[in-house]
Amino acid sequence: MELEQLQLELITRFSEQQLISGVISQSRSKTESAGKIKIKPVEIKGLYHIQLEYHFDQTITHENKLPSEMEETVRELLDRYRQLQMNWAGESVHIQLSKKKKVTMKRSVTDNQPPVELSHNRKKNYVLDPDVVHPFLVHLGVQTKDGKIKNQKHDKFKQINRFVEFVEDSLAYLPTDQPLRIIDFGSGKSYLTFALYYYLKELKGYEVNITGLDLKKDVIAHCEKLARELQYDGLHFKVGDITDYNNVQQVDMVVTLHACDVATDMALGRAVKWGARVILSVPCCQHELFTQLDSPALAVMTRHGLIKERFASLATDSIRAQVLDLVGYETQLVEFVDLENTPKNILIRAYYTGAQPKPETIAETKAFVAFLQAKPFLVNELQEELKGVLT
Ligand SMILES: C[S@@+](CC[C@H](N)C(=O)[O-])C[C@H]1O[C@@H](n2cnc3c(N)ncnc32)[C@H](O)[C@@H]1O
Repeated sequence: MELEQLQLELITRFSEQQLISGVISQSRSKTESAGKIKIKPVEIKGLYHIQLEYHFDQTITHENKLPSEMEETVRELLDRYRQLQMNWAGESVHIQLSKKKKVTMKRSVTDNQPPVELSHNRKKNYVLDPDVVHPFLVHLGVQTKDGKIKNQKHDKFKQINRFVEFVEDSLAYLPTDQPLRIIDFGSGKSYLTFALYYYLKELKGYEVNITGLDLKKDVIAHCEKLARELQYDGLHFKVGDITDYNNVQQVDMVVTLHACDVATDMALGRAVKWGARVILSVPCCQHELFTQLDSPALAVMTRHGLIKERFASLATDSIRAQVLDLVGYETQLVEFVDLENTPKNILIRAYYTGAQPKPETIAETKAFVAFLQAKPFLVNELQEELKGVLT
């Protein structure tokens, strides 16, 4: 097959949404990091996209493209790489390009089916089926004994499901050769903590060791009792303050759901210090920056309490994302649930890549913090890890 024919076939298959998955490897360039690129279809804001996941220099970055944007990408990839393993609906194709770009192909028929639903950002179906009785949800008062979600618990049920979807999307970033160590900081009544155990261990069969930590003794005692009653052996609850919780060797994933104010920063700080591969955190009320904002240039906003509060919150989350990027994470701020469900609807998603901080990220973070005249908790918490780049 000629190279042009191959280009045309790939472009057509991408535009017809036949992609199941793919891996592109064998870079032609010796100077370029000899990584690979994984490809899969994802749904973003309701639209079909193709996600390219670049594994270079021990870092992972993502690029999402519409099928109509793939033409140039295909040409570029065939220019730069020599091997493609493409799994299309109904067929797998192994493609090898010679030094002179001669194409060799091996095709095999498969029963690959295109995914009915794409699991990047949104799913129509809940991970926890609302029509099934989930014992832990009955015990926690979210479901009635016959499985009906209680009216006043609908929002919570939706939040738990959505959070578990984010966990599902993050599984690829977690180790597979050992039980997963997960901590839910500020777990409170621990709907999420139980749901994580139920989903990962009971539904998916992962070996897990999950801890819920909170300041409230009575609530934690109740959760621990329930975990024992349900025989959830890998789930434990502890009373304690996040900042003092440092007697742990290794943690793979840290989650928080509406941990108040700087409790979120404490949790992010702990996660970074442990080198957690995945951080999923939905912050809550934000008071810290609210009291610090003192830039005259912001007076037109900060004189209105409501605007000041929202701005302080958004600025805090933006700084959190920048700081996580600076200490080796690839961080995104994504919508958690819709605004009608809860106004606290930003989720910080951070995957550890070990990437070195980029000079432009350092410069823009410094400038933003200086402009706000703020002293963010997380910057202080991670002084050592930031190695002075923000001071
Ligand atoms: C709004 S509740 C959220 C509870 C739970 N994550 C949920 O979504 O239902 C916040 C929880 O964080 C806990 N918390 C706040 N600061 C904490 C700290 N420094 N250490 C441990 N827990 C803390 C509180 O006790 C409270 O239970």
